[in-house]
Amino acid sequence: MKIDHIGYAVKKIDQARDSFEKLGFCFERLIEDTDRNIKIMFGEKEGYRIELVCPLNKKEASPIDTYLHHVGPAPYHICYQSEKLDDDIENLKKQGFKMIIEPRKALAFGGKRVAFLMNLSVGLIEIAEL
Ligand code: NI
Repeated sequence: MKIDHIGYAVKKIDQARDSFEKLGFCFERLIEDTDRNIKIMFGEKEGYRIELVCPLNKKEASPIDTYLHHVGPAPYHICYQSEKLDDDIENLKKQGFKMIIEPRKALAFGGKRVAFLMNLSVGLIEIAEL
């Protein structure tokens, strides 16, 4: 599976974008995923992709609240591309990964499915359907 992007949890997406722009990243448009209650912006530099993820409505729970509270703005997942999502997930489960978020259509991926799994040695990973 090829690496698609590194996900960064951030508290203020505009400030994070400005800082990454100073490091040479170029950004796509902002995506508001009301289903997951997060704002997302993809950036790219020399073939490396990052995804800034920020809570959308701060009055409601978002999937990165706990991480932001305990760790602060920081990278929190690597996303891998999968041509056979269900098969790759089954293989990862056999290798000790636990499902955290079941495969679900994601606005940021044009409606293709993504899933999150976790392993205590490497933390959280995301698998995105190609
Ligand atoms: Ni991601």
